[in-house]
Amino acid sequence: MKPGIATILGIETSCDETAASVVVDGKIISNIIGSSEGLHAKTGGIVPEVAARAHVEKIIPVIQEALGNRKLEDIDAIAVTTGPGLFGSLIIGTETAKTLAYMFKKPIIGINHLEGHFLSALADKPLTTNYYTTILPALALIVSGGHTELLLIKKPFEYKVIGRTRDDAAGEAFDKIAKLLGLPYPGGPHLSQLAKEGNSKAFDFPRGMSGEDNFDFSFSGLKTAVLYFLRKYPKANKADVAASVQEAIVDVLVKKATRAAGYFGVKTILLGGGVVANEHLRSRFIIHNSLFKILIAPPALTTDNAAMIALAGYLRFMAGKTDSWYNIKANPNLKL
Ligand code: KG4
Ligand code: ZN
Repeated sequence: MKPGIATILGIETSCDETAASVVVDGKIISNIIGSSEGLHAKTGGIVPEVAARAHVEKIIPVIQEALGNRKLEDIDAIAVTTGPGLFGSLIIGTETAKTLAYMFKKPIIGINHLEGHFLSALADKPLTTNYYTTILPALALIVSGGHTELLLIKKPFEYKVIGRTRDDAAGEAFDKIAKLLGLPYPGGPHLSQLAKEGNSKAFDFPRGMSGEDNFDFSFSGLKTAVLYFLRKYPKANKADVAASVQEAIVDVLVKKATRAAGYFGVKTILLGGGVVANEHLRSRFIIHNSLFKILIAPPALTTDNAAMIALAGYLRFMAGKTDSWYNIKANPNLKL
């Protein structure tokens, strides 16, 4: 390793995207995603076996493209998502990373996919443990297709889950409701596009658990409410429905996260995960919060990618947190 410079290869295959990235000295050099979204659009959702086969086909070309002119010998460490996710998908990434680490005698860093999501909120900040310490205590809100979690971070790399969804994740709610509205998969971006033409106050959909004295979420009641609403009013303006649904989801996320931030007296709120691509959510968080520093993952790093894994890997590598290939295992239920 050259002094002060570390080159990290990141690999992510937890769900349907086969992704690899190179980060040098905390800066993203490449961020390659071989998406199988087209395959899953046909089935309206992810079929694990289809996702796993696509990873096998794409993993080496995607890593090659991410490396560019670099050789594996030039890499200082390999960061790989070990969980949570689909087992058949995770093992393609972890076994590939382990093989490369073994062959090229490189340290390996197992990354929790959720840590990657919220640490990408630091993508344009100095990626050092020192800087990480200055923004603490912090709250991290991860909102993706599979997760809606609130974490309290008092020390770098130490996470405490203080709230999570009791049923559907926020992204899942976007996707399922988009399906009810006849929109293509994945529904979140389509629903938010349609919402731009609608009135967010048109319909008052339920804000699950928003009045409860805890930091958990529930989105399945919203989905059921929209299902019954559309049965009763099949001619309702779809853009108004989309805008009102988006408002209901964003409202709960903003209110609960802000309440938690106040309760725990944090300095910063970190936002990451696919749903954080939502423009309405981004602006509501910024408008609503003058008390906290709001750090939001850049739009390109919100949905699944390997740069977030390489960035988290870089931060851990610089803090001396590396491992050997024989300790790395895919774990679909990995906890933070
Ligand atoms: O983080 P991610 O790529 O995958 C998981 O780890 O789950 O998140 C994907 C989720 C999907 O549910 C997708 O519909 C949602 O993020 N999403 C959005 C937007 N872009 C992606 N939801 C709302 N508005 C968006 N603009
Ligand atoms: Zn994700």
